[in-house]
Amino acid sequence: MDIGIDQMGLYSPDFYIDLRQLAEVRGDDPDKYTIGIGQDEQAVPPSSQDVVTMGAAAVQQIQASIDAERLGLIVLGTESGVDASKAGALFIQKLTGLPQTARVLEIKEACYGGTAGLMMARDYVAAHPTKQALVIAADIARYGLNTAGEVTQGAGAVAMLVSAAPRLLVINDDSAVHAEDIGDFWRPVYTNQALARGKYSTEQYLRFFQLAWAAYKKATGLGLADFKALTFHLPYTKMGLKALRQVLPEADAAKQQDLLMHFDHSIQYSRRIGNLYTGSLYLGLLSLLENDSSLAAGDRLGLFSYGSGAVGEFFSAVLVEGFEKQLHGAAHAGALNARRALSIAEYERVFQDAVPYAKADYQTNPDYYAGPFVLTAVTGQERQYQAR
Ligand code: HMG
Repeated sequence: MDIGIDQMGLYSPDFYIDLRQLAEVRGDDPDKYTIGIGQDEQAVPPSSQDVVTMGAAAVQQIQASIDAERLGLIVLGTESGVDASKAGALFIQKLTGLPQTARVLEIKEACYGGTAGLMMARDYVAAHPTKQALVIAADIARYGLNTAGEVTQGAGAVAMLVSAAPRLLVINDDSAVHAEDIGDFWRPVYTNQALARGKYSTEQYLRFFQLAWAAYKKATGLGLADFKALTFHLPYTKMGLKALRQVLPEADAAKQQDLLMHFDHSIQYSRRIGNLYTGSLYLGLLSLLENDSSLAAGDRLGLFSYGSGAVGEFFSAVLVEGFEKQLHGAAHAGALNARRALSIAEYERVFQDAVPYAKADYQTNPDYYAGPFVLTAVTGQERQYQAR
């Protein structure tokens, strides 16, 4: 039975900064950000956007394909959840009017949470072939003003509907995993800003990719020649490029050029949004599907997921006949183009405004209400959401 992704939705905040401007203000060479890191713009989430509002907005885009009778599982993969106990997916279920008869939960392992949810959804459908499962990967990547990680921040959500006979791509049951306790990146529960051993984290990402890729090749007998394109978790796009370059020497010159060309399509959205943590790999996948007109049904794609801490997983997917009819590239590009650019001074104010961990109760700033759902306030230490 073929199981995979039937639909994908994407939401990222309606505000962004130009990273060349950030470089100037921070006293860095803009080329370091756009070439060295590989990022052009960065999504800025106002205080009224969190993983719930962004996740609900992404779900809304694919809601027409959700069958209330068949939906059996709703999973939110996130590492910037809004409550230490309650699943953010329950707020999303209510905001979007999803059925109350599906299992609802939240899952966490850094950026790997989206893949963990996807694999759980895949296994769920394998056990219950008539059912659908909804996976939401949503995050706010936040390191702080004037930190080394600042240029690698971002925000947004990807929603994926998983079913048998999917209309986008089949997820193969061929995963190779490497999981090991390391201290490359973490976020203590009392803060909304992550801590990272930056350079070490990039080395570990590459090591985990190499281990997963080697295990994958050994188990499947496949190699680079069997893949049309490789997509990666993209904390920043240069990271994915470094991983790809590690394996390129395994291919001939023509194949190397081809893989680099496809990779370039896969990073278009990330270059403008930044790190989505759990959603990053799937933002890259969506960017590839919506921007690369040379893809065809039957093409095999390789996906590498990495979540600090750390878990790495490599698996493959195959495009199905008619997949291009399920995509919404023009709408996603239009939404990115319609965002409002913030000056660096305004971005810093918006950034400091988003301090939910410091206050029990607060109102969000209505000047920045945008998108289909907003968090209006936290009152009595409970979050108040609203559709707009
Ligand atoms: P940094 O110290 O500011 O940057 O930190 P750098 O000095 O290493 O420079 C970055 C690159 O720019 C280098 O290229 C420079 O040569 C180049 P590289 O050698 O790496 O190829 N460069 C220039 N290029 C052109 N023109 C110039 C110029 N100047 C320098 N003028 C770092 C960078 C990524 C470490 C930092 O931003 C950081 O700590 N980010 C957060 C951590 C992170 O993203 N880690 C990625 C791997 S871990 C992961 O993916 C998991 C994660 O998503 C979290 C999760 O799982 O939950 C993060």
